[in-house]
Amino acid sequence: MKQIIIDGGKTLKGEITISGMKNAAVALIPASILCDEEITITNVPNISDKKALIDIIELLNGNVIEKEHTLYIDTSKIESKTIPENLASKLRASYYFMGALLGRKRKVEIYFPGGCNIGNRKIDFHLKGFQLLGATISMEHDKYIIEADHLKGTSIHLDFPSVGATINLMLAAVKAEGTTLIQNAAKEPEIFNVGELLNKMGAKISGLGTNTIQIEGVDYLHKASIEVLPDRIEAGTYLIIGSLIGEQLKIKNIIKEHLEALLSKLQNIGVLLDIHDDYITVSKAEFYHPINIKTLVYPGFVTDWGQPMTVLLTQCDGKSILEETIYENRMAEVPFLNKMGAKIEVEEQTAWINGPTPLIGAEVEATDLRAGASLVIAGLIANGVTTINHVEYILRGYERIVEKLTNVGASIELIDIE
Ligand code: EPZ
Repeated sequence: MKQIIIDGGKTLKGEITISGMKNAAVALIPASILCDEEITITNVPNISDKKALIDIIELLNGNVIEKEHTLYIDTSKIESKTIPENLASKLRASYYFMGALLGRKRKVEIYFPGGCNIGNRKIDFHLKGFQLLGATISMEHDKYIIEADHLKGTSIHLDFPSVGATINLMLAAVKAEGTTLIQNAAKEPEIFNVGELLNKMGAKISGLGTNTIQIEGVDYLHKASIEVLPDRIEAGTYLIIGSLIGEQLKIKNIIKEHLEALLSKLQNIGVLLDIHDDYITVSKAEFYHPINIKTLVYPGFVTDWGQPMTVLLTQCDGKSILEETIYENRMAEVPFLNKMGAKIEVEEQTAWINGPTPLIGAEVEATDLRAGASLVIAGLIANGVTTINHVEYILRGYERIVEKLTNVGASIELIDIE
């Protein structure tokens, strides 16, 4: 098991550079197998989810060369093989091989995808979309078998603007015959990033970033390269840290437009921000106003910021309310924050946070990726030492988090204990 140990209370100053976006990279890597030649992906974050996806591509007879933050993926000899449980269950994003293999090979055998335990995590929108495109789906124990003699473009209306379903159905539709419309599509930047790669490969996709995406099927997808967009969730996490203990902390390599909903909330709280197009400088405030937040799909205040933001709300002077509307179970960090001195009450998907409450270092446990991130934030501001267990979750989505924080003055270390 890996642990992070933090001696809290340090003021952080200097520069943090944001890495490539996890939720874009984990879609771009599977998307590469649609190409009949070679794909180059730059600015890939060095996170554990990346290795799991590369292992699957190599299983499918793809060839991956990794140099620093660039992947060279040769998918000219891709075969459709069963993606075993030990690989598929490592992460939710393994489900992107459904759309990609269906699009390239018309046949997929894959065990249930994994993913953080933050809710039901169904994939019914994905499966219904594949069936509308002409695929048949059968189950063998925990394995999906999805195949199609022929994929024919059609109109697909999503019950909810699902990020995963929007991307997965784009992947399945790019080589289908005719035109596909995805209505009530998600608008997250990662969807633009994937659509941009597909169009550079020769696909014909329009409407990216709107709620209706149109895909005209093509026969062949040629070599292309793409840069992973900066990670707005990682950036938000460090902005929240800087809001609490920063002194002119500079967060570099960001896209301001992707952060608007968070920046607005931080300003409402009273945080000092110096905002530029590609970097933001943030400092702690003398006083934090309580606010109410409701998580929404992008471009609203996205659900992945909710857990890190909860820690900032514990320092606001009064009662704040955080309502999580996307997942059923995304407040698992609350008992640990309360153990550290927070006063948070949770009812269903709403948290009432009473502040300000000084936090005291304690032994806590990461239960999912963003819960783990919130415990790192709590440890950084707490008096005394915090030990966080099972930090493997955190390493899935935050590249070099210990190094990045150490470089700006945090007392933090990562250790492996058996
Ligand atoms: C992606 O998950 C991200 N994961 C999540 O980030 C992120 O929170 C989420 O999008 C929303 O932005 C990856 O990109 C790997 P959804 P995804 O489909 O695609 C329900 C993180 O911390 N739903 O938009 O699974 C679903 O259960 C992770 O980085 C269905 O019911 O999100 C959820 O309640 C966590 N049926 C809601 O919709 C479906 O077929 C939103 O899911 C699909 C989804």
